[in-house]
Amino acid sequence: RASPALEMTEWADVADWWPRLTASSEKYSRGVVGIATGSATYPGAGVLSVGGALAGPTGLVRYAGGARTEVLHHHPSVIATDRVADAGRVQAWVCGSGLGTGDEARTELRAVLAAPLPVVLDADALTLLVDGSSAKRLRDRDAPIVITPHDREFARLAGEPPGADRVAAALRLAAWMKAVVLLKGERTVIATPDGRAFANPTGTPALATGGTGDVLAGLLGSLLAAGLSAERAAVVAAYLHGLAGREAARHGPVTASDVAAALPTVIPN
Ligand code: APR
Ligand code: MG
Repeated sequence: RASPALEMTEWADVADWWPRLTASSEKYSRGVVGIATGSATYPGAGVLSVGGALAGPTGLVRYAGGARTEVLHHHPSVIATDRVADAGRVQAWVCGSGLGTGDEARTELRAVLAAPLPVVLDADALTLLVDGSSAKRLRDRDAPIVITPHDREFARLAGEPPGADRVAAALRLAAWMKAVVLLKGERTVIATPDGRAFANPTGTPALATGGTGDVLAGLLGSLLAAGLSAERAAVVAAYLHGLAGREAARHGPVTASDVAAALPTVIPN
């Protein structure tokens, strides 16, 4: 079959799609994002994914992951709950970054997938999908799914590495999983189950540092909770994440916290 056209994300689209505040904006109507990431082993993943979500357009972040004390210490505006099942109303979930792969993490992932809401699945959530051979079950889910694998996570899900044609590889996995695939890398590719593909032009090697993927997942979840389609949320998040990496790099060596901190300076106004 002929390769579909690859669209390059443009700033004009990102600026057009970014949800704006209005005079009547209210915290709940801006959307509530639920975050199930982080663990005692990886408290930073919780902190960083929440950091990404707080830079997004939602009005509230609910945290149902691990290492709550650390997350609240860094982000006092978050509402923390014990578990996903107790989180109350949210419009989208982010699950997996640093969550762990034990029984508790599996239970939380199940609760996330049981809700009829858009979800971002990253890192350990992708590992759990493979281990539980439940990747196929995602196909029966109605609500949108965005998965955010790097190459090794992709290889585990797809059974083979992306190879030279990353666009074709991402499109195949998207069609098979019925999910939007955000394949991370030097030039991040976003592929949809219905065969559209987007290349992100803003990537920078400054992002090649631990934890920047967690920031991306949080931002993406916030955009989903604010009502963007899975495809647009993925395109917008990748674009702004790259810009934030570039902005952070102007001030010296970059940490993932710097990327989260730079996000508010690059969002469209
Ligand atoms: N050019 C542009 N962007 C890049 C580059 C590059 N050379 N290298 C990395 N990036 C971007 C990716 O596109 C992605 O947005 O940086 C981000 C990295 O995300 P992840 O690969 O998910 O890395 P992260 O989870 O933050 O940290 C690494 O993942 O596999 C685990 O054990 C590993 O704990 C480690 C963690
Ligand atoms: Mg990662």
